Parts: sequence; C-alpha cells; structure tokens
Amino acid sequence: MKIAIIGTGYVGLPSGVGFAELGHDVICVDKDASKIERLRKGRITLFEQGLEDLFLKNLKTGRLNFTTDIRSISDSDVVMIAVGTPPHPETGHADMKYIHAAARDIAPYLKNAAVVANKSTVPVGTGDDVERIISLANPKAKFHVISLPEFLREGFAVHDFFNPDRVVVGANASRGKKLMQELYDSFPKPQEILFTDRRSSEMIKYASNAFLAVKIHYANEMQTLCAKVGANIYDVTKGMGMDSRIGAKFLNPGPGYGGSCFPKDTLALVNTADSVGVNMSLVNAAVKGNDNRQIEMAHKILDTVKHVQYPNIGVWGLAFKAGTDDARESPAVRIVQEIKKQRPQVSIRVHDPKAMKEAYQILGNHITYTLTPYDAAFNTDVLAVLTEWKEFSEVSLDRLQMREKRIVDLRNIVDANYAIENGFEYIGLQYRKISR
Ligand code: UDX
Repeated sequence: MKIAIIGTGYVGLPSGVGFAELGHDVICVDKDASKIERLRKGRITLFEQGLEDLFLKNLKTGRLNFTTDIRSISDSDVVMIAVGTPPHPETGHADMKYIHAAARDIAPYLKNAAVVANKSTVPVGTGDDVERIISLANPKAKFHVISLPEFLREGFAVHDFFNPDRVVVGANASRGKKLMQELYDSFPKPQEILFTDRRSSEMIKYASNAFLAVKIHYANEMQTLCAKVGANIYDVTKGMGMDSRIGAKFLNPGPGYGGSCFPKDTLALVNTADSVGVNMSLVNAAVKGNDNRQIEMAHKILDTVKHVQYPNIGVWGLAFKAGTDDARESPAVRIVQEIKKQRPQVSIRVHDPKAMKEAYQILGNHITYTLTPYDAAFNTDVLAVLTEWKEFSEVSLDRLQMREKRIVDLRNIVDANYAIENGFEYIGLQYRKISR
C-alpha cells in the first residue's frame, strides 16, 4: 500500500517507520525543512526505544522517504494526518490550526478515492471539518475521511505500533473500512478492529485518555489520604489492582500526570463538554487536582530545606516519564518552575538522561544542567527524584556528595532501606517518614 504521513513527530515518525517495516511504501511529509533534511541523512529527530535501527533499515530499503513537498502524496492510497493539536494558549481548546492546514495542503493532490485518516487526537466533529475543508479547496476531489486514533505510548511507540491493544476505525463509508482492514491484515499478529462511525471513534480516544488521567489522579489523592492515616499506598493500590474490574495499571502515585496527551486531552474534553452544556465534573476535578498536585509536590521538596537560607536542590529527571526525551507538560519541569517561583534564591542542579535539551527550551538558564546524576546531587541539601529513569535506581548512593543527605523520591525508585543505611533521610510517598 502507498501511505503518506503528514507530520513527523512522536506519532507520525514511529508510524511511518512501522508501516515501512511492514512492507508498505511510505512518504513522510513535514513543513520543517531542517527536520526533513536531517531525517533524509539518516539522523533521527526524537528518542524512542528501538526506533533508530528500524528507521535506518527502512531508509536503506527505499520504502521510507521524507519530503517537504506536499505534492508527493498524490499517488497515495492512504494519507494519514499526524500533526500536533496543542492546547490553545487562551482557551485551552485543542488548537486545530495544524489539522486544518494539513487538510488544505493535501486537498489539491488527492486522487483515486484516497482515504484521509486522522491519527491526531481531535475533538468530536473534526472529521466533518476536514471533509468540508478538502471539498471546498478541491470540489472535484474523491476521498474518504476516517478517524484512526493512535493509542501508542511514548517510550513504547515501536512496541505499541506492532502490538496495539486495540485498533479503532471510525468510517462513515465502506471504502475506508475496506482499506483499513487490508492495512491491518499486513500486521504480523491478526488485529481485531473496532469499526464505528467517525464521531464515536474520535470520542473513544478522548474518553480513554481522560479515564486514565482520572485513574492516576485517584491514586494520587489516595496517596495523600494514606499518608495521613498511616496506610501504605503501594499495598493499597496493589490490593485494588488485584480486582480484575479495576486492573493494576495506571494506579501508580507520582508527582502528577504529564506529557503531550493527558493534560491537553482532559482540558479539551472538559471544554467540548462545556460548549454543549455538559458538566464533566470528574474530569474537571482531575484537571484541577493534577495541577494542585504538582504545586503540592514542589512544597513537599521545599519543606525539607526550610532551615537553609540559600538552599541547593538537586533534581533527577525532567522528562514527563521515563523512556522519552519529551518534556512537554512534564511534572518535573513544572515542579522546578514552582520551586523557583516560591523561593527564587534556591539554586537547582538537574540531570536527565535524555530530556535536557527539551527541558532547556522551557526552563532556560535559570538552573544548572549537569552531565551525571552524581553531578546533579553535588553539594545539594535535598535531591528530588522526579522521573522514574532506571539509571537513577542504579546510582551508588554512597558516592553522592551532598551538603545534607536527603532524598525526596516522588517516583518510588530509590530503595528506601539502602538510602537509610547510607545515612540519608528518605522521604517518599509512603506514610512513613524514614530518617537516620
Ligand atoms: C498516553 C496514553 O497512555 C496513550 O494511550 C495515548 O496514545 C497518549 O497518551 P503517554 O502520554 O505516552 O501516553 O504516557 P503514559 O505512559 O500514558 O503516561 C502519562 C503520564 O501519566 C506520565 O506523566 C506518567 O508518569 C503518568 N502516570 C502514568 C502516572 O503518574 N501513574 C501511572 O500509573 C501511569
């Protein structure tokens, strides 16, 4: 099959590489000329476990191509839109400008009843808008717009691409259904597809992400309560997760959820509901609660250095979760910002294995970026663990040279007993405050 993908971000690029690996002819289109230039030269533009090898392999075979020239989509059977839908800075609504631009750009070149598949997370009704925009721009075009929501997780994009939990296709006409069945038949494992209408498919993505965000927020609130009443949150969530109706996943308490999806999608869902007079009280509570959570976590860290006039704080982790270089809406970044806001005289030293460049775009020069976790902890009064990178749990704590030996572990990855044995005050999310 000939597949064009518009947008080479965290969804577009892994999908392009994946479809090429399955034997399809893929052309990835992006307006960013320098990005396309780099990709063409074999230089990958984002970090994803296992992606680079597949990318290089398929670039060599000639099945994976990159261009800025939108005309290259003209002989494609499927054109996938995988551009960003960031929250609008003023309204919080998902900003549709890149989707609309993509629809306008592809319109003149759609041929052979091409299927336009929307992979970006978009509010209900966007498929209709895309259809309208294309028809207006090219009244003669024959095409079918479908919704093909992407459920892959960053950090597991390659795994999730080849082993999707579910495939949902929202198509109002049979051509789209037929082509998607053919496409997913090319996967190594048979894929069961849920076929539905376009609007329901668009809603499935939002409904899923908002549900997961609510689930995490529930675990976070439960953690606060457990800490107050002397219950162990990790045993509580383990016990809850043993009920198959609840499930063990996404019950991990932490500094708040982040990333390019949950914060944006929950907000967009609440806004969509508001616009039709529906109050999504549960999702709304998660949106507000998650925001407060990050502020509370900044205070939790600051409280430990109240007695220090000019505190030095070490931070491990800036990515919104382990396994990615993405720092968008990262709780770690937000907590660093909040600490600086509350006590501007604090000095902060940070380390992240992958996300320092991204975080620098947001945090700039107000903090010190260091090359190792040891360096980030050097001469600090407290070390805050904000992203669950495996390498942090492997650090030899006895080699840390801190001014005061104290760890606030918001990801539960440092062994508390090991820390205490090494003379640290360990403050985790459990009810116990374990000290020397
Ligand atoms: C999410 C969805 O999982 C994916 O299906 C969708 O396509 C895009 O959005 P992603 O943003 O990559 O994927 O990250 P995810 O692994 O879901 O984590 C999101 C945030 O929740 C992270 O900040 C993570 O640390 C946090 N989280 C997750 C928790 O705090 N606790 C948990 O138990 C799980």
